[in-house]
Amino acid sequence: MTALINLVYLISVTLFIIGLQRLSSPKTASSGNLIAALGMGFGVLIALISPVESGDGNYFFISGALILGGGIGLLVSTRVIMTKMPEMVSLFNGLGGACALLISIAELLNFHYLETFELASYLTTLLALLIGSIAFSGSLVAYGKLSGKIKDSWKLPRANMINMGLLLTLMGISFYQLQTLESMELVILIAILSLLYGITFVLNVGGADMPVIISILNALTGVSAALAGIIYDNMIMLMGGILVGSSGAILTILMCQAMNRSLINVLAGGFGGEVGIAAQVGDQTVKEVNIMDASIMLRYSTNVVIVPGYGMAVAQAQKICKELEDLLEEVEVNVRYAIHPVAGRMPGHMNVLLAEADVDYAKLLDLDDANKFLKETDVAIVVGANDVVNPSALDDPGSPIFGMPVLEILKGKHVIVLKRSMSSGYSGIENPLFFHEKTSMLFGDAKKSLNNLLDELKTTV
Ligand code: TAP
Repeated sequence: MTALINLVYLISVTLFIIGLQRLSSPKTASSGNLIAALGMGFGVLIALISPVESGDGNYFFISGALILGGGIGLLVSTRVIMTKMPEMVSLFNGLGGACALLISIAELLNFHYLETFELASYLTTLLALLIGSIAFSGSLVAYGKLSGKIKDSWKLPRANMINMGLLLTLMGISFYQLQTLESMELVILIAILSLLYGITFVLNVGGADMPVIISILNALTGVSAALAGIIYDNMIMLMGGILVGSSGAILTILMCQAMNRSLINVLAGGFGGEVGIAAQVGDQTVKEVNIMDASIMLRYSTNVVIVPGYGMAVAQAQKICKELEDLLEEVEVNVRYAIHPVAGRMPGHMNVLLAEADVDYAKLLDLDDANKFLKETDVAIVVGANDVVNPSALDDPGSPIFGMPVLEILKGKHVIVLKRSMSSGYSGIENPLFFHEKTSMLFGDAKKSLNNLLDELKTTV
């Protein structure tokens, strides 16, 4: 029986890895998701059989929890709309942390009744309690911020000092508890302080930096699940936790690199999140273009690149981009989409929106390919993107985004920028692209401007 259980665990882990690997491309992501879910299904099934073998299976509670948890999960995930996905991810992530928190408290209680005692096991359980609690309360705050229930202006004064103080206190109490193993009260205090730390740790981070925080919290939940796997000597929990922990950590690093910011800078909340800071226009002039001229430029192009950004998501203009693409391709204009890895406000934001609008995945170019294609581009239409097309990142060492890999939009012949005003993007800095001789501004809501462009183009096609 043990050999069979281990074999099924091995199959589950293999399915997790295959699933994860397939998630790396939008083409294979759906099947990757299903494969990983199948692995999880096997894991749950075999975990149900395991306690029977040791004689203490309690199917009443287990099935109740399965039906309740599975039912809520199914209901929520079928009802959630695409734009609310980050909120859901952060809530589900928090529940993983809550699991580790409850398991650890139960196990630490058990320790107090044991005759023989293993320090390493106690330490592991205490760590699971600490990390699980931080992931739980931190994810709830992240959910609150993403859904607008917690305002970005609700910040703690001297947050870094408070966080450091809490962390040191936690380490001190945990060390004392390990030495003395005296009371369950101290364990509860550790849980409360960890929950508090989760709140103060996430509260000061800017709203737009939440994707980075969610992926850090995700990594923490993974680590707490892995620790729970060690506590229960359960391979699937251990491996699953390691996979979640490591992929969360890799995603965090990749996002920070794509924004050219250190993790400390994100955590300190010193950048971004301050939407609406006006750009310093100074005495520079911008050139505007009208709908008719813009449509003529597009109609007589060979290669056109659509550059989506956060503004496309705000305007919900993805479907109209696809209509524009279809119309242009009818007259043999070659259309591609240039996708910056952190365009928008969550990983893969643009890919998800464009996939929803049925844009062919083959037409999406990543940063490197887009920069190559831009050299042959007649017109680049920037749809609500700003920071990801800011040339200061390439040539202004004084700029806060200097060094951030950006779309080299000025390599093309002409640029048309669709935005509502001269206001800045997420980073709050000026964008010299708007004043460049190759650039023409088309002011207005992106969806409205694209609709007008489409109507005008239809009269000429
Ligand atoms: P942003 O730099 O934030 O610029 C978005 C632009 O869209 C704004 O300038 C805004 O100008 C325009 N806009 C807003 N609503 C619009 C509408 N309805 N119609 C037309 N335009 C509209 O966006 P980006 O270029 O996509 O850059 C993303 C930024 O977010 C980067 O700085 C990145 O580092 C940061 N960030 C991304 C992530 C991830 S994982 N994607 C995570 C954290 C931070 P107007 O107000 O004038 O219209």
